[in-house]
Amino acid sequence: MGQRSQWGTRAGFIMAAVGSAVGLGNIWRFPYVAYENGGGAFFIPYLFALLTAGIPILILEFTIGHKYRGSAPLSFFRMKGKGAEWLGWWGIFVSFVISTYYAVIIAWAMKYTIYSFNLAWGDDTGGFLFGSVLNLADNPGEFGGLVPGVLIPLLLVWAIAFIILLAGVKRGIELANRIFIPLLVVVFLLVVIRAVTLDGALLGLDAFFKPDLSKLADSTVWVMAYGHIFFSLSIAFAIMITYSSYLPKKSDITNNAFITGFANSGFELLAGIGVFAALGFMATQAGESVADVASAGVGLAFVVFPQIINEMPGMNGLFGALFFLSLVLAGLTSLISICETYIAGVSEKFNISRTKSVLFGVGLAAVISLLFATRGGLYFLDVADYFINQFGVAAIGLVEVVLIVWVFKKLDVFGEHANEISDIKVGLWWKICLRFITPLVLGYMMFDLLRINLF
Ligand code: PHE
Repeated sequence: MGQRSQWGTRAGFIMAAVGSAVGLGNIWRFPYVAYENGGGAFFIPYLFALLTAGIPILILEFTIGHKYRGSAPLSFFRMKGKGAEWLGWWGIFVSFVISTYYAVIIAWAMKYTIYSFNLAWGDDTGGFLFGSVLNLADNPGEFGGLVPGVLIPLLLVWAIAFIILLAGVKRGIELANRIFIPLLVVVFLLVVIRAVTLDGALLGLDAFFKPDLSKLADSTVWVMAYGHIFFSLSIAFAIMITYSSYLPKKSDITNNAFITGFANSGFELLAGIGVFAALGFMATQAGESVADVASAGVGLAFVVFPQIINEMPGMNGLFGALFFLSLVLAGLTSLISICETYIAGVSEKFNISRTKSVLFGVGLAAVISLLFATRGGLYFLDVADYFINQFGVAAIGLVEVVLIVWVFKKLDVFGEHANEISDIKVGLWWKICLRFITPLVLGYMMFDLLRINLF
């Protein structure tokens, strides 16, 4: 198989890690989660989760990848044999499932980038999405055939992913991120600048930042903060282990983890400002409150945003195109990181070339993703997304941390490894976070999820 791939530069690795972290979640999930869970007050649990779980686990995963230089299953195998390898495969399985529907959403965003130029969605933006674009069946049972309007952009998304991933770690993933991430920042800044200069923007920002301190007493708010940080930083999905396994021997792990974590949060904050400024404008136009127009996910991006774009004065088509292009760019860089987990895992496990592994792994994901391009696609997408969010993220994080810390007792070894090569040294706070705080909070989270789902 030849020599193991490596990132060409430190900036290349950081761009790739940030590219993975910054995704659809930052743009359409974070603003609403923050707004719903205390507005300005949400920053307290958010920062707490970032500093006690997000960055500590990122440092841990970077260390594991760097030390064992393998895909997630191989790294865990080298850590503790067969008894640990499955943990890597679990992360890969979750990543695989996410990749199948994440690609579909990027495909919609691609279509909407083009639609923006002539506001093709008309006045009934909901009817347009569910009717003309998705051709949604009345119920999942009659999921019907493929919807050509979704199929074609979806194939395009996979073709782009194939090209980038086939080109390899340095000439594919790194290069793509070095182009896409700076471009994303510029494009998204334009979107935010335009949004905050709209009439009523302040109303939206006020709704977004206004702290509701009473929410801090509500445990779900803390659970939401932890869940969001895991998803947003792409931790516990085998991704960051895989990416850091391509680091050169001399690499500053801790510093890179801080940069990745803060860059991701910075982008998220920017997205909150842009989205809520636009919602404030919309509320003002409609004579409603921000609470009436605020939403998240598919509804926010593909129903509410087109309405906002309709109402905007001057160059609104361009604004729309830039907004949806941001989704495409943020989504693509996350998608390739998710795919890389199984490409690396399969190629190392079965000792096959990268090319074969891309063709097989990404090919299979592409075929499965066709399910979401049928007339029942949106129903399946909701189910998959629900399942992943409820049982994937926190569960893997919890098991990973508890096994490493308490069963394999590797925390000290990893701390020393990170400290040997990093400027910032991890010490007591890192160990306290991973030994006690993270397992306790995640344990509570799992308990809470089971309680809500089973009883
Ligand atoms: N972190 C990405 C986001 O915020 C999503 C993601 C999750 C990417 C899991 C890869 C794996 O959207």
